[in-house]
Amino acid sequence: MTPTLDITLAGIRMKNPVMVASGTFGYGPEYADLVDLNKLGAIVVKGISLEPWGGNKTPRMVEVSGGLINAIGLQNPGVAGFIGKYMPFLRKHDLAVIVNIWGKTLEEYAEVATRFDGVEGVHALEINISCPNVKAGGSSFGTTLESTAKVVAAVRAKTKLPIIPKLAPNVSDIGAFAKVCEDNGADAISLINSFPAMAIDIETRRPILANISGGLSGPAIHPIAVKLVYEAAKAVTIPLIALGGITSAKDAIEFMIAGASAVAVGTANFTEPLTALNVIDGLRNYLARKNISRVQELVRSIRI
Ligand SMILES: Cc1cc2nc3c(=O)[nH]c(=O)nc-3n(C[C@H](O)[C@H](O)[C@H](O)COP(=O)(O)O)c2cc1C
Repeated sequence: MTPTLDITLAGIRMKNPVMVASGTFGYGPEYADLVDLNKLGAIVVKGISLEPWGGNKTPRMVEVSGGLINAIGLQNPGVAGFIGKYMPFLRKHDLAVIVNIWGKTLEEYAEVATRFDGVEGVHALEINISCPNVKAGGSSFGTTLESTAKVVAAVRAKTKLPIIPKLAPNVSDIGAFAKVCEDNGADAISLINSFPAMAIDIETRRPILANISGGLSGPAIHPIAVKLVYEAAKAVTIPLIALGGITSAKDAIEFMIAGASAVAVGTANFTEPLTALNVIDGLRNYLARKNISRVQELVRSIRI
């Protein structure tokens, strides 16, 4: 038996539930020589703001045990730059394109959403309300239920595209944040973004990152992400996209059993660009071995 991997998530048809995560795969062309994009379920592109944005000062990445801390600060070419330069390339490929968006104000989030409405080849918007590396916008919106509700509602009012808020991990009750997204019109939820983190050079006693702190990602955060996905799945019925430290099919399968309908590979793309493709193969093999005909049967299948 060859198991079926295709899914429809928030109205988006995908040939498999495996994506590449925002900020870890550029806009597509950067990886196209290494990875056949047509084999991926979706690409979530690096976060886009209304105008081009230069990000933080360097150094803005440091490797630590079990992962990396980054403080890129959402560098990007802006809406017009992205659509003009990258959408013609992405449209030529057979995969869903999810655009990760952010703003410094509520109005900016709404305006970015407006600009993407009707853009050919864009399948959904992922709303980043959880970046730990920018002073305005990003995480400042995702840390209270009230501002989370406002951003989701503001974006909902401006677009017919499916919207997918992306949650921060460092909140006291992830289920409450997931629920507020669902109640304000989200079609799905992505979780998690990186954890606020810091590294210090003990010789100079200075923070290694110019931004002082950044976001921890990679294998170190995976078990924490599994718990958060499990909790979020209990709180909502809309689909979840899980990410956090996936390096193998096992990690992805764990997320799906905990409650995710789809998964995204992030930091692992830097060390092994073929990780997402290996996850797809491993998932197919697992389903065949377990005699499961459709990947959806795995979702929320945890036995307690
Ligand atoms: C270098 C880097 C850049 C990132 N940029 C973004 C971004 O622009 N928008 C966003 O929502 N998440 C961004 N993220 C977070 C990832 O999409 C992901 O949520 C996080 O890294 C956890 O997954 P991982 O452990 O598999 O990397 C970035 C992560 C890294 C490592």
